[in-house]
Amino acid sequence: MRKDLHEENRLSWNAATVAHNSHKGDQAAFFRNGGNKLYPEERELLGDIKGLSLVHLQCNAGQDTLSLARMGAIVTGVDISDIAIDFARQLSQDAAIPATFYRSDIYEWLTERAQSTQRFDIAFCSYGAICWLSDLQTWAQGIAAILKPGGRFVTVDFHPVMSMFDEQMAHIYPYFSHGKPYTWNEGVGDYVAMSGLGLVDTQYIEGVQDFKNPHRVHEFAWGIGEIVTALLNAPLQLTSLQEYPYSNGFKPYNDMRLSGRRWFLPTDRPSMPLMYAISARKAY
Ligand SMILES: C[S@@+](CC[C@H](N)C(=O)[O-])C[C@H]1O[C@@H](n2cnc3c(N)ncnc32)[C@H](O)[C@@H]1O
Repeated sequence: MRKDLHEENRLSWNAATVAHNSHKGDQAAFFRNGGNKLYPEERELLGDIKGLSLVHLQCNAGQDTLSLARMGAIVTGVDISDIAIDFARQLSQDAAIPATFYRSDIYEWLTERAQSTQRFDIAFCSYGAICWLSDLQTWAQGIAAILKPGGRFVTVDFHPVMSMFDEQMAHIYPYFSHGKPYTWNEGVGDYVAMSGLGLVDTQYIEGVQDFKNPHRVHEFAWGIGEIVTALLNAPLQLTSLQEYPYSNGFKPYNDMRLSGRRWFLPTDRPSMPLMYAISARKAY
C-alpha cells in the first residue's frame, strides 16, 4: 500500500478535474433533460439496478454516479479528489438527483465501511480506475467485505495492453511491471480536451487551454491476470471477463477514428484489446 503516492495523486487529480470540467458545458441541464453518461457495455453488465444499493468507487466528479442513480440505484460515490467530490455534490444538488458522496482514499473508506453494518448490492468502478491502486489484494478484499452475500463487483476499464504504447502507437512500455509504480512528472493530463466529443456529451467548451498539471502522478500497470487473481482470492466468483477492440470516450493515440462515442484503431493496424470488463459475485 502506497498511501504517500495516493496523496500525491490526489493533488494531481484536483488540478486535472478543474480542467476536465471546464470543457463539459452545463451538466446539470444535461441531467435535468434526462441525460445519462453510461456506455452500453456497463449498462448491459449491470442490468436492472432499480432499488439496488450501489457504491461507485473512484467516482471522480460524479457524472456516472448520477447516471446510475438515474437508472434507479441508491448510489454512494467515493473519490480521493476534494475538487471532484465538491463538484459531484454540487451537480447532484443542481440536477436534483440524490446521491451520497464521500471524499476518501478508497482503501480507508473500504476499511471503515467493512467495520460498519452497511453492505452493498453492487460495487462498481470504471474507465481509468484500477491503474491508481497500489495494492490489488487489499482492494479486492475490501470490496468483498462491503458486498452483501450474492452482491456483485462490476468494472469496465481500459485494457493494460493500451498502456504499452505511446501516443504515436510505438510499443515502448512493458506489459509486466509486478506492482512497480510509474511516475509521470507531467501529472494527470487534460485527456478530455484530447478526446473532445468522445468524452463530452454536452456542448464542447474550449475552457482551460494548454493545461499544465503542476503535480506529478503515480500509476500502476496491473495485468489482467493480476486483477482477476486478486478478485478470486478476495474471494469473489468470476462470472464474466470480456475484451473489446475499441475505447469508449477516451482517445489514447493520436491516429484513431471516432464512431459514435467509440475510438477505434486505424483500419491498417491489427486489432488489440483496448478495454475489458469483469463481473464477479460474492458467494451466498
Ligand atoms: C479516471 S478517473 C475515473 C473516472 C470515472 N470513470 C468516472 O465515473 O468519471 C480516476 C479517479 O480515481 C480517483 N482516485 C485515484 N486514486 C484513488 C484512491 N486511492 N482512492 C479514491 N479515489 C482515487 C481519482 O481522484 C479520479 O477521480
